[in-house]
Amino acid sequence: SLDSYYVSEELGFVLPDPLENLPPYYQPWVEIALRVPELVHSHDLRSHVNKMPLLSTDFLQSHRELRLAHLVLGMVTMGYVWQEGENDTVEMLPRNLAVPYWEVSLRLGLPSILTHADAALANWRKKDPEGPHKNSNLEVLVRLPGGDSVKGFFLVTLLVELAGVSAIRSIPTVINGVRCSDSEAVTKALENIGQSIQDMNDALKLMHVYVDPSVFYGVMRIFLSGWKDNPCMPKGLVYEGVQTEPVKFSGGSAAQSSLLHCFDELLGVKHEEKSRAFLTRMRNYMPPAHRKLIEDISLQPSLRGFVQQQANQGLSKAFDDCVSKLLALRSYHINVVSRFITVPAAKARQLRKNSHESEGEMVSRAPTSLEERGTGGSGIMTFLKTVRDKTKDVLLHEA
Ligand code: ALA
Repeated sequence: SLDSYYVSEELGFVLPDPLENLPPYYQPWVEIALRVPELVHSHDLRSHVNKMPLLSTDFLQSHRELRLAHLVLGMVTMGYVWQEGENDTVEMLPRNLAVPYWEVSLRLGLPSILTHADAALANWRKKDPEGPHKNSNLEVLVRLPGGDSVKGFFLVTLLVELAGVSAIRSIPTVINGVRCSDSEAVTKALENIGQSIQDMNDALKLMHVYVDPSVFYGVMRIFLSGWKDNPCMPKGLVYEGVQTEPVKFSGGSAAQSSLLHCFDELLGVKHEEKSRAFLTRMRNYMPPAHRKLIEDISLQPSLRGFVQQQANQGLSKAFDDCVSKLLALRSYHINVVSRFITVPAAKARQLRKNSHESEGEMVSRAPTSLEERGTGGSGIMTFLKTVRDKTKDVLLHEA
């Protein structure tokens, strides 16, 4: 059952009912975390963090406490590293932040950097507890610089996850259906998964409503980026008091969402070597139970093989429709990236050429190191297009 993978029937990979505050002992962390945007803006975050007490993590007990601690320390870390932009980064995260962050990360099986599991899956509350999971009834718990666009970016990402829940719920039905050769059950479940992927696509469209591309590109994006595959932090980051050698961690990426990994394994999508390496590495940025679900799906008998063998028209159509929806989602993602990254990057380059005009333009404040790269460190467009093309390969009948 999905329960054993920490996947909720109602919310999928989203953390149900995230804790909104830590025990009083941890207020020094919470107070700084809630002020990250303001303290980055005034260039005071680093000095506040340097004065923070070194707290024991022994009083953190439940999974929800640990997730909130990981989110809070992650936001503070991103603010600390990127406070001065790409040209004045740090080599070391101070002990009073690094040590507890590392301990909490070990207990959760997550890396010591802000991940999708923090910023999207565990960073939300309902305004009206009885109300729906809709943007208007949702709020984030902790923010990065970038105002309402930050809130919009995290909440829309959350809504995409929620739209995919119904698909995740249908995966066990597909697997059991293949086991007992129940074509009808598999067909229905695949239809349901296709519909759910389309709902994800519709949710993703809300990025255009709630996120301003120039704020996203010019202000917010650097705070999602990491210290691996990043030319402005080539050595990585020393976690003081943990180890003396620098460590490299990738920044946030949609590839850290477990949803598409599950679909790929279910449908049998085989990624090209380089993208596969990146995607596999991103599984280490997911909660271990979610990673385990993906791996267990990958160990099942081939669904695509079953569909071919059955030679049942309705079943084949349901399979191909499902793949087509996934293709459409991936094409739409490329479209979002071009609007939020490629276009602003071109504008920033243009402004640099006419340097006298660039002052005050938000996009020209963006780091040049992230023009071609995703915050996760991939060559973003090549990666997304290769992944989409490999998805096309599993269609039974060419579209
Ligand atoms: N991965 C997204 C980016 O590259 C967030 O900006």
